[in-house]
Amino acid sequence: MESDDCTQFDAAFRAFLQAYPSFEGTRVLDELRATEYERLDRCGHIYLDYTGGGLYAISQLQKHHALLADCVLGNPHSTNPTSLAMTELVERARRYILKYFNASPDEYVAIFTSNASGALKLVGESFPFEPGDHYLLTFDNHNSVNGIREFARVREAEITYVPVMLPDMRVDAARLAGYLGLARPGGHNLFAYPAQSNFSGVQHPLDWIAQAHAKGWIVVLDAAAFAPTNRLDLARWQPDFVPLSFYKMFGYPTGVGCLLARKSALAMLRRPWFAGGTITVASVQGDKYYLAANEAAFEDGTLNYLNLPAIEIGLKHIQAIGIDTIHERVRCLVGWLVDNLVALKHSNGRPLARLYGPPTTDHRGGAATANFYDVTGQAIDHRLIEQRANQANISLRTGCFCNPGAGEIALGLSKPELIACFNQPSDRLTLDDFRLCIDGKSSGAVRVSVGMVTNFADVYHFLQFAEGLLDQMSVRVTT
Ligand SMILES: Cc1ncc(COP(=O)(O)O)c(C=O)c1O
Repeated sequence: MESDDCTQFDAAFRAFLQAYPSFEGTRVLDELRATEYERLDRCGHIYLDYTGGGLYAISQLQKHHALLADCVLGNPHSTNPTSLAMTELVERARRYILKYFNASPDEYVAIFTSNASGALKLVGESFPFEPGDHYLLTFDNHNSVNGIREFARVREAEITYVPVMLPDMRVDAARLAGYLGLARPGGHNLFAYPAQSNFSGVQHPLDWIAQAHAKGWIVVLDAAAFAPTNRLDLARWQPDFVPLSFYKMFGYPTGVGCLLARKSALAMLRRPWFAGGTITVASVQGDKYYLAANEAAFEDGTLNYLNLPAIEIGLKHIQAIGIDTIHERVRCLVGWLVDNLVALKHSNGRPLARLYGPPTTDHRGGAATANFYDVTGQAIDHRLIEQRANQANISLRTGCFCNPGAGEIALGLSKPELIACFNQPSDRLTLDDFRLCIDGKSSGAVRVSVGMVTNFADVYHFLQFAEGLLDQMSVRVTT
């Protein structure tokens, strides 16, 4: 940086510390970034997509590779010595996950899946929906939670969406009680919501879990976006199903997730098939199979077993830093980001950005989503923002982030408008067809998300990038 830039940066940093003094207590993460994540600064990356995926520390790789280099590990579905050694590592990973989330092994099991979506599919395909049962979910949900409605639909269960409201994108607490009253008495009722929105960063209340239980719901708490920077204590909060992706928590490995399941709720599920590893006995001529107990009944075929020991390594990495330290750092950084983003104004006084989600750090996580407007008040296409950000080596995300319900509310897309687009004769609808159909309305937004090793400079550089959009007319996206 030039010396003027340095002075400006230093002044901004001082103002930040004044506004968020608790950031000082998270400085251990700056030290860690300089060593374990040194590649970020060496390559000049401004990584702001932690809701998309976390980043790994070099030592996580080293510890995992050392273990693999040291051991001879076979497929765990057997009793030979290398298989037994692997089985012990698999069970150890399982125990560690439960311990990390303070989940009693008497109450919860950890089922390995390939990601959070795989965990959600296990619940959806096995939930014993019957005609008249209910699937209740918030508008604000990832598509892998929305997708469960297709299992509910074929089994003739009712499907109800609970709306979220602008500008904060929260659910109206008074109306939630009414929705929870929709449970069919004695039926199989499933309620699903995200502990943290991957669209707006809103953290929906965890005390909905007990409220929903009291009204007869089985609760899916999607913690994929929440767990990386928040404490989830399953001794205190007791959702029935919790899907997770580990790469979102600590970057490595990909391809491994889990479903934390309460044993009592797991016992309700009816698997639609059996597979290698899920049965005690299956017969061809006898035309019969017997499912294994607990998690084994839900893990189809061979697990991604060599990657499982990396989970304990990743969880220990978070514990060594402290999840509360990570949480506080993210709170400070996203607070500063949002404060400054909403304050940016063109010289004619028009705001640069419209934020979708809470403008304060109260019950919000590290994702901030907005659209940008030019000096005339015209929305700047989110794809243009992405192109410009790419040129500045800033990794952010644009679109609807697989969360169409939150997107529709944020962007003001109404049901009749959407139905008109979906009632066209063709079987296929490309994103470009959809854009044309909604005629000039934004089809997406820009998401900036901070995480474990974000530093002040990342946020500062993003805000400078945003300032660079001030007083400009928007131009076309180059395709
Ligand atoms: C809240 C939420 N739920 C579920 C998912 C799905 O995760 P995965 O793609 O790892 O299956 C995501 C991914 O971004 C998410 O943010």
